[in-house]
Amino acid sequence: MKTYKIAAIPGDGIGTEVINAGVEVLHAIAKREGNIKFDVDNFDWGGEYYKKHGRMMPENGRDQIRNHDAIMFGSAGHPEIPDHITLWGLRLAICQPFDQYANVRPTRILPGITSPLRNVIDKELDWIIVRENSEGEYAGVGGRVHQGSPLEAATDVSMFTRAGVERIMRFAFALAQSRPRRLLTVVTKSNAQRHAMVMWDDIAKEIALEFPDVTWDKMLVDAMTMRMVMRPETLDTIVATNLHADILSDLAAALAGSLGIAPTGNINPERTFPSMFEPIHGSAFDITGKGVANPIGTFWSTVMMLDHLGEKTTAERLMKAIERVTADANLHTPDLGGKARTADVTRAVIEAIHGANE
Ligand code: IPM
Ligand code: MG
Repeated sequence: MKTYKIAAIPGDGIGTEVINAGVEVLHAIAKREGNIKFDVDNFDWGGEYYKKHGRMMPENGRDQIRNHDAIMFGSAGHPEIPDHITLWGLRLAICQPFDQYANVRPTRILPGITSPLRNVIDKELDWIIVRENSEGEYAGVGGRVHQGSPLEAATDVSMFTRAGVERIMRFAFALAQSRPRRLLTVVTKSNAQRHAMVMWDDIAKEIALEFPDVTWDKMLVDAMTMRMVMRPETLDTIVATNLHADILSDLAAALAGSLGIAPTGNINPERTFPSMFEPIHGSAFDITGKGVANPIGTFWSTVMMLDHLGEKTTAERLMKAIERVTADANLHTPDLGGKARTADVTRAVIEAIHGANE
């Protein structure tokens, strides 16, 4: 029996609802397999914790989860606390020190889901976005002075290092190489941003030499939004900076039917630290506590986690169960135009897991 130690951090808003569902599904898939087990430790960090303790997680928080095999994360964001505090106090406080520099975001139109793109066929939209997750526009470099005075000034400096760009580029090329089409699109804004973005282009060209079997091209981020909508079938693996890929991945999720479905892995490829898996959606206060959050984004993230742990067949079995459930419109939550509740979808996925004999 192989046992994995998982840290669950539900966080705020619907985070608790979807992570509870995700943990339930995780135990169900383990039971189905029979030879693996998950020890899940729950951490009550987030906005409510902040209100009591003045910080989003304890000072030694990272030490408490450093030796877990992986982290399941819900969301950070609280109506009474500024977003930059919840973000930097929890999610980025884990991602950056744990060097989860590759943020991986697959996008596919799952069975039963309709894309808002009129003519797209399911298999024409099968992308994986690699988002640089440790520096760039999210480096945290900058400052604000003379607050409130007419002389007030503020900067957010995008900081790119050669080491940081090389490693994300190498990760993206390798990922593209592992997919059937071996196709990579490198996104920048190197016409207007003439320093760091030009360095991205240069480094892409250098790393490409290590992957002669990968076909790659370059796009400016503005033109990329158009290509994603107009010619989705020409894209496969995509690599972009922290902010550019943040924006492109929301567009990708919408084109695939709903933000409620999209998964993420914050990966530390060297495995020096645990990687963290989370749905791409946020805390969604408008539907918090109503029991209608779509848990599919969390389930798909759980598939990514199983895959990362090396449990490939288990990951595939869970993905098949998810797809069997999305194929049934009666099991769609309101974000997909349906009436199903979180618990209905969760129950159906668990039933599909136990029914899956292949
Ligand atoms: C995401 C989210 C976050 C981000 C927010 C909540 C800060 O939009 O994971 O894409 O921009 O990183
Ligand atoms: Mg985002």
